[in-house]
Amino acid sequence: MPLGETLISESEIRARIRELARELQAALPPGPLHCVVVLKSAIFFAVDLVRSLGREATLGFISAASYGEGTESGGQVRLGLEAAGRVEGRHVFLIDDILDTGHTLLAAREALRGLRPASLRTCVLLDKPSRRRVKIEADHAGFTIEDVFVVGYGLDCAEAYRTLPDIRAYRPDGPDTEEKPG
Ligand code: IMP
Ligand code: MG
Repeated sequence: MPLGETLISESEIRARIRELARELQAALPPGPLHCVVVLKSAIFFAVDLVRSLGREATLGFISAASYGEGTESGGQVRLGLEAAGRVEGRHVFLIDDILDTGHTLLAAREALRGLRPASLRTCVLLDKPSRRRVKIEADHAGFTIEDVFVVGYGLDCAEAYRTLPDIRAYRPDGPDTEEKPG
């Protein structure tokens, strides 16, 4: 199995989400929020984060496809906004798993902006600044990581590994570091 080392443990994720929730309580406008989650990888993070915010929130979802079966993103992002919910006039909080080249978050943010929210803030669990191809930063980010492909806690490689509790490096050519039973 091409799983590499654990980069961020389950308990580190949990602790950082508690901190992020405190940071967000101060930064987000008061009142109800409309949280828009980018499918599918951000679901795990979004559920944990939105529950820690402890405030009234509605949920919407957008789909974004730019990855095929591989690990490289193209500049073309196909967005599906059918399940985004009502955005106009609302305080919208956009949540994604990882900010890599930036194409996805940029496309999602601009599409939501076009729907005229009262305010719009963005949050990602992971940020890989060395991979950026377009100019965008998230308003809030959980962890900054090196240029390594990661899986777990919702993040996948060709749909595999999402349910791993930790965030691990994915190294198809690396040494086999997975624990063997027995
Ligand atoms: P971007 O458009 O290149 O910024 O890519 C963002 C999307 O690519 C994320 O929402 C992820 O779904 C996916 N992605 C980028 N890097 C990784 C990674 O290291 N592991 C898993 N998915 C990734
Ligand atoms: Mg994603």
